Amino acid sequence: MPKGKCVSKSPVAVDVEAGKTYGWCSCGLTQKEPFCDGSHKGTEFHPIKFTAEADGKKYLCGCRQTANEPFCDGAHKGL
Ligand code: FES
Repeated sequence: MPKGKCVSKSPVAVDVEAGKTYGWCSCGLTQKEPFCDGSHKGTEFHPIKFTAEADGKKYLCGCRQTANEPFCDGAHKGL
């Protein structure tokens, strides 16, 4: 799958709740960064869902270059 539009060259920290499912925006077109707001419609992209295992902070990819979607893997450092 191609990579989405880079929104930021840094991860996006979000507070998640255990057991809750989130949809990370893989296209980079959302207005609700870093979560999908449906703006991908008509493109080949779709949200990447994940369920939090525990309450806490997660660092989601802002540059859309990560190889570990939806989480930051440091790929932004090479941009
Ligand atoms: S808005 Fe980007 S994947 Fe849905």
